[in-house]
Amino acid sequence: MSNYSDAEKKPLQSMDEWEEDLLERYPENDSTSKAKEEFRNYDKPARDTVKEFYRLNHKYQTFDFVREKEKEFLQFNRKKLKVWEAMEFLNTLIDDSDPDIELDQLQHLLQTGEAIRADGHPDWFVLTGFIHDMGKVLCLFGEPQWAVVGDTFPVGCAHSDKIVYPEYFESNPDSTDERFNTKYGIYSHGCGLKNVHMSWGHDEYLYQITKDYLPEPALYMIRYHSFYAQHREEAYDHLLDDHDRKMFDWVRKFNPYDLYSKSPTPPVVSELKPYYEDLIAKYLPETISL
Ligand SMILES: [Fe+2]
Ligand SMILES: [Fe+2]
Repeated sequence: MSNYSDAEKKPLQSMDEWEEDLLERYPENDSTSKAKEEFRNYDKPARDTVKEFYRLNHKYQTFDFVREKEKEFLQFNRKKLKVWEAMEFLNTLIDDSDPDIELDQLQHLLQTGEAIRADGHPDWFVLTGFIHDMGKVLCLFGEPQWAVVGDTFPVGCAHSDKIVYPEYFESNPDSTDERFNTKYGIYSHGCGLKNVHMSWGHDEYLYQITKDYLPEPALYMIRYHSFYAQHREEAYDHLLDDHDRKMFDWVRKFNPYDLYSKSPTPPVVSELKPYYEDLIAKYLPETISL
């Protein structure tokens, strides 16, 4: 699957452009003038790279592509690391060619965790905030950006027009495949998300790594935090079962910490490391396999 050009693998200057675009689509307070101001100030070149990113994402994320990635990556035969080492590995993603990126990946994760902790949530919730993007290490294994980040969506059934840039699904072969292009496709009403394959990326990958170790609400947060078409738009209610619906309360509770916890004063890694090392030791194994 390495037959993509560099331009196709890296439409974004940095993966953070996707998250900046999310902030534009879902500003913290829809009604405030500040959000509208930011919206207007959003520069055109960045928008174009994000558009190109979604064009590729929507074109290539087919049911077969997802199954292939599952086969390829769920063997976990690439690297064995301590969790903190995996975080440092992830941090090598910093792209210093982009002057707008003030915060690296580790800082985003620490800020998310710290915001959750400041609100007095249980420690597993804090830990979830801290690790939720660890799956982005996929990028360091040479994966295209659109197979690591971006909004996720079910594959194997029709694409909702509530997904960002739905028109780009026209170039997705699944859109003309009779097995997949109906409302339910290969699924059935209320079948539950446990039976649904999602587009491939850092959410599913980290879920598979952590699924035996964390409480279920944490696993839902990890697995579906980029599923905006559901947790923000409720476009796939027909696939959820009652249990999913209960668990999505947690996904929605998590989302603001992911999007809006950027603070101008970066956390001091060395001060926070002991606390997070303890949390890791409490819930996760000594080493994880990537
Ligand atoms: Fe994420
Ligand atoms: Fe995140």
